[in-house]
Amino acid sequence: MTNWLITGCSELLTLRGDVPRRGQALGELGVIPDGALLIRSDRIAAVGPRRKIERLREARRAEKLDLHGRVVLPGFVDSHTHLVFPESRAAEYEQRICGATYQQIARAGGGIRSTVKLLRRASPESLKLRALAHLREFAAYGTTTVEAKSGYGLEWAGELKTLDLLQELHQDQPLDVVSTFLGAHVVPHEYRRRPDAYVDLLVRAWIPAVATAGLAEFCDVYCDRGAFTVEQSRRILRAGRACGLVPRIHAAQLARTGAARLAIELQAASADHLEKINRGDIRALAASNVVCTMLPGCCFHLGLSHYAPARRLIDAGAIVAVATDFNPGTSPTLSMPMILSLACTQMRMTPAEAISAATINPAYSLRVHDRAGSLEVGKYADLAAFDVAGYREIPYYFGMNVCSLTMKRGAIIHTKTL
Ligand code: NIG
Ligand code: FE
Repeated sequence: MTNWLITGCSELLTLRGDVPRRGQALGELGVIPDGALLIRSDRIAAVGPRRKIERLREARRAEKLDLHGRVVLPGFVDSHTHLVFPESRAAEYEQRICGATYQQIARAGGGIRSTVKLLRRASPESLKLRALAHLREFAAYGTTTVEAKSGYGLEWAGELKTLDLLQELHQDQPLDVVSTFLGAHVVPHEYRRRPDAYVDLLVRAWIPAVATAGLAEFCDVYCDRGAFTVEQSRRILRAGRACGLVPRIHAAQLARTGAARLAIELQAASADHLEKINRGDIRALAASNVVCTMLPGCCFHLGLSHYAPARRLIDAGAIVAVATDFNPGTSPTLSMPMILSLACTQMRMTPAEAISAATINPAYSLRVHDRAGSLEVGKYADLAAFDVAGYREIPYYFGMNVCSLTMKRGAIIHTKTL
């Protein structure tokens, strides 16, 4: 593998410092003006001001990469995606524009269950081709680590097909894919009259099987109105934890059912969505180690105005992250820069807070902060370079791609004319 001396970083955002980041520290990016990096194989060997790094003996022998004044930061860590799905749901998009709600469409047999029907029939090859194309696109927007959930199978064959594919994807392309079992996405049609029997199946059979086969690191539940109750979610996540799957939870997206408190009770790695939490929940989350993962792409795409209270969570001292929630129903984007734009303009996060929330904090929520999420010696050489005059311009320009180079473990995986 190549050793690199990377120079020409007008701002090198190291994100060095405490993990995870809360409160004021969320806005501290560890910026080095005119910074440089020395990369040895897949890891960072040195990071600092250009003049210091250039003088290192190893730097003289390394391959030179001059970024001509670009802004460089750790590759984004997207900690919430539903990567594997068979096709878009653009028809529902139009139905919503014409007045139907997400819940109405779901009750009429659309929504998650319609994707389930198609995924069950889809060949692993077709799903793989689609996911690979998406992963290339993630990289083109500066993402280097992606969490991905199952949850469109909801029968053993479909869940296994997805989880096997996630393992293959992790092996076959450069991005790290971290796998989450979401057998509890919704109650599948065939169990609609006996949801507890489905929960029994998850708890007694599927969760132990997934854990034993090493097919996932996390277990997630969609705990909300129209999906799973708090009691059912508690059973599922406890069963997961008992066999080593760390809990994550879709909480309070549509209604406040108590999911955020459950996340705290179970010491979940992350509570995601949180649009409907109240003041007491904010206080409780702030006092916990649960990462509060904001998914503003959902409100944007669904045309809703109740974005999660990111500002109040940050001010209360909670650990805040942002993610795409890439999925065909509520958030069809894989652009972390677009999510940063929404975090800033719709949730009043500062550009610096949004960048920490897209790198080091989600790395913590995925338990990969020892190797990803910041540019520090010993960590993976996972980075993205942006064609902007300063880091604030990354969210400032919205809906356009200003990422001009992405490196994953020391290999260049995306370039736009340098
Ligand atoms: O995170 N809320 C549940 N899951 C997804 C939506 C999935 C879908 O509609 O297909 C979400 O928003
Ligand atoms: Fe989701």
